[in-house]
Amino acid sequence: MTQEIEIKVQDGVQVVRFTRADKKNAFTGTMYNAISEALDASENNDAIAVHVFIGSGGVFSAGNDINDFMRRAQATATSDGKGIPAPSLDFIRRLPKVTKPMIAAVDGLAIGVGTTMLLHCDLVYASPAASLRTPFLDLGLIQEAGSTITAQARMGYPRAFEMICLGEPFSAERALQSGLVNAIVPADQLEATAMKAAKRLAAKPRQALMTSRRLLRKNHEQLSAIIEEEAQAYKSLMTSPEAREAFTAFLEKRAPDFAKARKGG
Ligand code: COA
Repeated sequence: MTQEIEIKVQDGVQVVRFTRADKKNAFTGTMYNAISEALDASENNDAIAVHVFIGSGGVFSAGNDINDFMRRAQATATSDGKGIPAPSLDFIRRLPKVTKPMIAAVDGLAIGVGTTMLLHCDLVYASPAASLRTPFLDLGLIQEAGSTITAQARMGYPRAFEMICLGEPFSAERALQSGLVNAIVPADQLEATAMKAAKRLAAKPRQALMTSRRLLRKNHEQLSAIIEEEAQAYKSLMTSPEAREAFTAFLEKRAPDFAKARKGG
């Protein structure tokens, strides 16, 4: 556990809370590792039947911590350039393999992997202030976490393209209409709603629950394969002039100039 992730188990439910509100709960490598370890350990722990992910400070997560990601990517020197940091890739690879139901309670922003991880969740509850965004292309990158498949499976191609390629934010209302969230509930009832559903699931006959979920998610091998394909493309784009410009612009708190970056400026 780190100070940026709080993990508690209660009545068969593992609650994973992101507690880095001053940085909009952006995920560092340490946070990814803590979440992955909690998911992993739960696989052989009968005391845990369901996972609940929740943010703090009115934010779910701003996705990858760009500073930490860049630092780790630069340290991951490989023969063909810089690699995707292991903690984020390990977390993403784990998502389709989790065997216990995952529920998310989303208040405020869910950006990048903050949104694509929701596409692996079994139930998603959102506050009216929820906003789901995947600005991968604006960073010179592409979608990850299997969202090539999961986004259109959940909301159909036109809306998936709008979210992923146009980078359009989806409000709570739009996310509900699009099938990305199960219900919109007031912020002060969000956690209780997610916990109520989690406890209902945890009280079900366990073997039947796990078998039903496994059958409903028969495409996990296909998902794992697309995650690898996305990761290869993502990795080669990370060193493109446009991605470098996007990341530098974020760190320098300015708008990116992609035309200049393309000309090698
Ligand atoms: N990585 C690293 N730091 C982040 C972050 C991220 N993804 N998202 C937010 N932060 C940090 C900000 O740099 C800022 O740090 P500072 O206080 O040291 O300056 C702090 O969190 C608060 O964010 P700020 O930008 O001041 O708040 P805001 O309400 O104006 O905007 C966001 C919030 C999330 C819209 C904006 O920070 C943003 O666009 N972040 C990048 C999101 C992103 O592209 N994620 C996908 C990465 S793959």
